[in-house]
Amino acid sequence: MEFLKYSSNQSKDVTAIIAPAFEDSVPQQTKSLDKETSVISTGNKQGFSGKKGETFDIFNPNTGKRIMLIGLGKKGELSDETLRRAYSSAFSSLKSLPNGVVQVLLPDVLPGETKEVTFAIALAAYEFDRYRNEKNRIRIKKVLIATKSPEGTIREAKVVADAVNFTRDIANLPPSVGTPTLFEKTARKIEGVSVKAFGRNDFIRLGMGGLEGVSRAAREAAKLLILEYGPRDKKPLLIVGKGITFDSGGISIKPAEGMDEMKFDKCGASAIVGTMKLLSDLKVDKHVIGIAPLTENLPGGNAYKPGDILTHYNGVTSEVLSTDAEGRLVLADAISYGVKNFKPSAVIDLATLTGACVVALGSNYAGMMGNDDSLKNRIKKASKNSWERVWELPIDSDFQDQIKSKVADIKNTGGREGGAETAGAFLSRFVGDTPWVHLDIAGTAWTHKNGPGRAYLPAGATGYGVRLLYEFIRTE
Ligand code: BES
Ligand code: MN
Ligand code: ZN
Repeated sequence: MEFLKYSSNQSKDVTAIIAPAFEDSVPQQTKSLDKETSVISTGNKQGFSGKKGETFDIFNPNTGKRIMLIGLGKKGELSDETLRRAYSSAFSSLKSLPNGVVQVLLPDVLPGETKEVTFAIALAAYEFDRYRNEKNRIRIKKVLIATKSPEGTIREAKVVADAVNFTRDIANLPPSVGTPTLFEKTARKIEGVSVKAFGRNDFIRLGMGGLEGVSRAAREAAKLLILEYGPRDKKPLLIVGKGITFDSGGISIKPAEGMDEMKFDKCGASAIVGTMKLLSDLKVDKHVIGIAPLTENLPGGNAYKPGDILTHYNGVTSEVLSTDAEGRLVLADAISYGVKNFKPSAVIDLATLTGACVVALGSNYAGMMGNDDSLKNRIKKASKNSWERVWELPIDSDFQDQIKSKVADIKNTGGREGGAETAGAFLSRFVGDTPWVHLDIAGTAWTHKNGPGRAYLPAGATGYGVRLLYEFIRTE
């Protein structure tokens, strides 16, 4: 599906038009369609009032064009999210339009309309259907956006959306396919990104006790992937993503119900790979290191056990109380390795780390923790501009007290209370003085079904983090 800027000489190819309408007025662009059909301004709208979520379909037999009016509510209350919802669901209902060339009219009220509408449509076009005989057949060939913005705005938004869909595609892979090896192969195909891969021998040689312990009973070869992009003379930003390709819980095994969803425990790592690809696709002039600790977490006769004590890359020791709190153990090594060897200006990690975060914040906000107010504020700003929402959680000294161990420096769970925060407090022991933000994406990384009206978020992995990281990196 191609996205282009609309110009009037394409008018004859157009088979459908998506046209905005408000409750209190009709935008000029929509009014001018009266040349096509007089239905719009003559008031014969069959109860269509322009409220949010309403649509009205008109077929003009003279031109053969379908016109879909979409309600955007009151003009003065228009938001980017209203646009995303309205345009993505309009697109979804036109998906099977034969040989479709869709002209998209914008209300011309908000500055980011071209970008947001391109995102919404390109993200709504995604479905993970590679294992299905019945495919998601989009018959729309072209999306022509009628905008005053330069064509480059559409092009950039399309590349960003493609990177989000690329991320979704890796994260949605079944756990026996989306392995550490698959991640390495995928990363090596990204132009302009150099890739280094450590294996279990390296974990032992380098003293990465967390990665060594968690990967001990894995049958798929575990890896620590290190991706590098951009000008080496600048201090890098370090981004780290949890890559548990399947989290059974290990010896502290999870209940069977819903365990399939633990294939999504690799969403952090997927977002890192997707972001690195995006930086390369858009030739962003920033130095970024992406690190992904990748392994499956399985039980077995040789598995690490509750009671084990692991020594991490920076020398900190941790007592394993639950082998199901494995994410923090592998991130500990990945983060401390990155901090020591690359001396980054800042560290951002993304991890499907705790069920507690999902309970606290639900599925629309990632939990944000960290050690630096300026960095947190810059992340918040990037979050506002990318609609990948974050909400701050505390990790002060009381949480540090909760993870003190009698037999090691720290323990890998602090009990049920404040589960997201004690996980964040654990990670803080591996960043030193480097400004750092941890994003617990356990709630935002995948969805169970299309949210009401949110056609741009199809069921499965969401690709959360790519747009946020891109917005952050681009504006740093
Ligand atoms: N990957 C899970 C966290 C998770 C659970 C994400 C459910 C999304 C949905 C993580 O490895 C885990 O098992 N965490 C435990 C930690 C506990 C043992 C301290 C949890 O949240 O229960
Ligand atoms: Mn776990
Ligand atoms: Zn996990």
